[in-house]
Amino acid sequence: MNKNDAIFEESKIYMPGGVNSPVRAFKDLDINPPVIKRGSGTYVYDEEGKEYVDFVGAWGPMILGHCDEDVVKAIQDTAKEAIAFGAPTNLELKLARHMCKTLENVDMVRMVNSGTEATMSAIKLARGYTGRDKIIKFAGCYHGHFDGFLVSAGSGVMTEGIPGSLGVPQDSIKNTLIANYNDIGSIKSIFNTCGKEIAAIIIEPVAGNMGVIPSNKEFLKELSVLCKENGTLLVFDEVMSGFRVAYRGAQSLYGVKPDLITFAKIMGGGLPSGAYGGRADIMEKLSPLGAVYQAGTMSGNPLVMAAGYATLTKLYNNQEYYSKMEELGCLLENGVKQVAKEKSINVIINRCGAMSTIFFSDLDKIENYDDAKLSNTKLYASYFKHMLTKGINLPPSQFEALFLNVKMEQCHIERFLEALRSWEPIYK
Ligand SMILES: Cc1ncc(COP(=O)(O)O)c(C=O)c1O
Repeated sequence: MNKNDAIFEESKIYMPGGVNSPVRAFKDLDINPPVIKRGSGTYVYDEEGKEYVDFVGAWGPMILGHCDEDVVKAIQDTAKEAIAFGAPTNLELKLARHMCKTLENVDMVRMVNSGTEATMSAIKLARGYTGRDKIIKFAGCYHGHFDGFLVSAGSGVMTEGIPGSLGVPQDSIKNTLIANYNDIGSIKSIFNTCGKEIAAIIIEPVAGNMGVIPSNKEFLKELSVLCKENGTLLVFDEVMSGFRVAYRGAQSLYGVKPDLITFAKIMGGGLPSGAYGGRADIMEKLSPLGAVYQAGTMSGNPLVMAAGYATLTKLYNNQEYYSKMEELGCLLENGVKQVAKEKSINVIINRCGAMSTIFFSDLDKIENYDDAKLSNTKLYASYFKHMLTKGINLPPSQFEALFLNVKMEQCHIERFLEALRSWEPIYK
């Protein structure tokens, strides 16, 4: 047994499924995942020393590549004098100020420890602010594992083909209404029946958790108008798209003004992080100023704040990174289309800058959850396993996003395409 398998088999004894988050287990792929030992720039290395070009990037955060020198230095310098205090620090001020000053529609932020915490707290705040209970989410969007979001969720819930999760009381989801992504009619019909009861609509403005599906511009604009008309708050979940599709996130691409925005992943530079922010009059409803209670022992942790600040300032000061990733993304997209044509495989590539999904699909376009679900997951599994043996690390599910990082060069895209060319598709 090789070292990866030995570690993973023993992990199964001590951790359910051998993992701490379900999709990592490669459950439906009949192979063990590689056990990753270290990362450097664009590469990760498993316990056997095998090198992979990494298109997962810790599921998004590692946009600067693994162990970026400035992020490592920030963590090391901070660790010498500040690990945790549970008290105000200048480090949290620096990151909060930087976010508020460089992002649109963020007057104030509250730091938390994960994307899930950010979205569930934003929803609680929206409910407290509006005095309403109901929320709308979109089928296929994933906002973390909070009970109220585990209905028609994307990401791992979708990969496992389950409608939701056991352990979620009916009472926790009775106020969650589901609409269809990119379908304004589905929102209108909900608003027509109970518009004045909806506290918030939460949406991934560029969805990444049913595979990448950008929202249509008109759809988002109309959504924002309907929210205003009904006194409903619009919450953009930019946990994945924030600092990824553009420095200022998806909201900057659409010109639509959300009331609240959630962040995580890139904003913590790879350390456990999250934040939510938005209009001051809403944020001021949070305790200790207001009566919406939300707290956290580790929130604003110095190491996280230092890693986040180093990451965001580096991205902000080098915005040419985004045009570089756009060029590489284009190269990848065109290359994949070409190889698919040569091999007579039907694919649709949805891409927004440095995040994309190759859907194995016979459709003409993929615009929502129902479209995404028709993709050929067996073919995806065959492609994924082949690419892994060729040293290309990809998300192990059709319904996730592939990410580029700023350290990638043309040679990495070429290596991807070369591996793809050598694939012999297995359809069953
Ligand atoms: C859009 C979105 N929201 C929320 C979450 C939950 O974040 P976390 O896994 O940090 O709890 C994710 C995680 O992938 C996400 O992609």
